[in-house]
Amino acid sequence: MSARVFLNGQWLAADEAKVSVMDRGFLFGDGVYEVIPVYSRRPFRLEQHLARLQQSLDGIQLANPYGIEAWIGFVTQLANEAEWEDQSIYIQVTRGPMAVRNHAFPKHVAPTVVLLAEAMTTPPASQREQGITAVSSADIRWLRCDLKTTSLLANCLLRQMAVAAGCVETVLFRDGFLTEGSASSIFAIKEGVLLAPMKNHLMLPGITYDVVLELAAQHGLPYEVRDITEAETRAADELWMCSSTKEVLPIVTLDGRSIGSGGRPGPLFAPMYSWYQEFKTTVMRTSA
Ligand code: PDD
Repeated sequence: MSARVFLNGQWLAADEAKVSVMDRGFLFGDGVYEVIPVYSRRPFRLEQHLARLQQSLDGIQLANPYGIEAWIGFVTQLANEAEWEDQSIYIQVTRGPMAVRNHAFPKHVAPTVVLLAEAMTTPPASQREQGITAVSSADIRWLRCDLKTTSLLANCLLRQMAVAAGCVETVLFRDGFLTEGSASSIFAIKEGVLLAPMKNHLMLPGITYDVVLELAAQHGLPYEVRDITEAETRAADELWMCSSTKEVLPIVTLDGRSIGSGGRPGPLFAPMYSWYQEFKTTVMRTSA
């Protein structure tokens, strides 16, 4: 029996859920999405993910088909009935099917809404103990990277560069400054200070990024939110990547060169990782 998915107000077996070939999500990548981690069936930072979904919808001028309570209901139902305790819940809203292929928005829009759950697999212990490797690239994406759109071809090509080099992530630079990873936020650490790129139209406002900065503030780790040059990134003592599905991971080589000394995770990574795990445990015990 295949898992149930939500499609336009109906709960269907995944292999019975069908979307039109005329859907603008399929033909133009005209849609937005969210990935919400769920631990012990409790969605992590659900309100923040739904708020970002709203910002993405506003950014592409697509009316939100549901109110916040309805969204919370769908996510909760999926989290409760999926076969795994830990899941990642995927939400996608596209501008829906068109009668004829036309770039301009159709007059009467019936968006396509999909929710599905997948097993959540956090990175293996080896990745956080030994660190991961990354390559770098010019950030070839468009100028609205603050919107979480399904038009992800540039991100896919960038991620594939890492895979082709036997690495995990691609760190992106635009005009000499750090933006983010192909599917993650990036932090640098220099002389005990956590450096975070400033949120703007060139990067996704990461939910995990916010958690990391909140944890730094809470535990007295100094941090600065500002533009970070490529040279500073390469000369950092530590580099971290984070996302909803990878949590926080240390990057130990960039383009084959060690970050910091020794090509091993730096001293601030382990405390941040344990603060993150502690925070998750609190979320699991209380509500989202
Ligand atoms: N991606 N930047 C980009 C380009 C991303 O795709 C992601 C996450 C992040 C981290 O955001 P958050 O902490 O809110 O997950 C930053 C998700 C996991 C994905 O596309 O699957």
